[in-house]
Amino acid sequence: MERENWTSRLGFILAASGSAIGLGNIWRFPFVTGTNGGAIFILIYLAAITLLGYPILVSEMSLGRTTAKNPIGAFKKIAPNTGWPLVGALGVLSGFVILSYYSVVAGWGMSYIFKSLTFTANNNFPQLFEQHIGSLVQPIFWHGVFMLLTVVVIGAGIVNGIQKLVKYLMPILFIIIILLIFRSLTLNGAARGLSFYLKPDFSEITLQTFADAISQAFFTLSLGMGAMITYGSYLNKKESITESAVYVIIFDTLVALLAGFAIFPAVFSFGFDPASGPGLTFITLPAVFTKMPFGNFFSLIFFVLLTIAALTSSISMLEVVVAFLVDEYSWSRKKASYLVGLLIFLVGIPPLLGYSKLATINFLGMNLLDSYDWITNTIFLPAGGILTAIFVGHIWGSKQAAIEANQNSRLKIGLIYEILLKYIVPLAVLAIMLISIWKTLS
Ligand code: PHE
Ligand code: NA
Repeated sequence: MERENWTSRLGFILAASGSAIGLGNIWRFPFVTGTNGGAIFILIYLAAITLLGYPILVSEMSLGRTTAKNPIGAFKKIAPNTGWPLVGALGVLSGFVILSYYSVVAGWGMSYIFKSLTFTANNNFPQLFEQHIGSLVQPIFWHGVFMLLTVVVIGAGIVNGIQKLVKYLMPILFIIIILLIFRSLTLNGAARGLSFYLKPDFSEITLQTFADAISQAFFTLSLGMGAMITYGSYLNKKESITESAVYVIIFDTLVALLAGFAIFPAVFSFGFDPASGPGLTFITLPAVFTKMPFGNFFSLIFFVLLTIAALTSSISMLEVVVAFLVDEYSWSRKKASYLVGLLIFLVGIPPLLGYSKLATINFLGMNLLDSYDWITNTIFLPAGGILTAIFVGHIWGSKQAAIEANQNSRLKIGLIYEILLKYIVPLAVLAIMLISIWKTLS
């Protein structure tokens, strides 16, 4: 059977950007920036995106397009009868675990759609957030609703349809973020937040800064787990991979940086703690909305769009798992999505309860949601990225990959790409990953 293709280059860029842009930009990027001292983190993060993220993104897309297969099938096709397909299996596992807690956070966002209606300047937003995540019924309900949405889209195979929606919705998200930035920057005391965000304090650099920057680079670009291999597998030969990847990175980085501009001036103005962790976005943005005309309305629209942005990412995670079961075990798409979706929902319950019933459980000094996040983003994704880089660089061959990526491209990659992919990416990521594991364990 002919494999279904994205109908155009724009379609592919939208889909890949849809996978990239999500909670990683608006929820994770700001709080990780906040816990890592602000501007200095951003510098290292931008370096990680360019030097490590771009080569891996191009490699994953090329591997997918060349083989036209799911992540496991892709490795199998190029290196049959070897252990390499296990890298694809690691990706399937990553997709499974990341989605389980991603859906919990997306659920927080969904419940904020309705809470938006009642926000007033008298709210204590840090407390509101604590109460919400510390409760049971609402977080479980919304986690379930979000997983159900993801499952329905993947089960019906209407990913393409959803991506088309993105074309209209993302510009609206963009406009709301710009409005938030205006309001945030004009709050009293905003300047201190701006300098936290833009003036690097080099004394804040630690190995942790590098580790967190690299994890964030993988997470935000959906790398190291085969999502971009899968999306690349539907890409037409006529389109340019080197250029599509640049667009995806620019859009993704732009949304993350803008989210920070909306959040940090306000954090300082309201006297919140920039290092407060996973609640940062949910505490800060509602407070800014209460200072805007029609704030409740904008807040509602914002959380609806955040949910949709999260959905275009979550479907790319579930698609990796489902494509694998469909291609390799001939499961029906429906059966695979619903069964896997149910399992992922259940696996997401422990991190959800990590703020209530299971709050006393600590793993490596972290609550359960943070530990899911740590295991996937500090170990699984970087490991997947290192192995993919070694595979594409040395087994398939970086020259082959460059030829695939350069097809119909004005932007040509060559020697620098090959060196980065074959040596710099594996060594740098491995070094940081090992140090980070060692530090967390000791
Ligand atoms: N890139 C997505 C985000 O920033 C998260 C994601 C990770 C999606 C891994 C797919 C695979 O929200
Ligand atoms: Na992202």
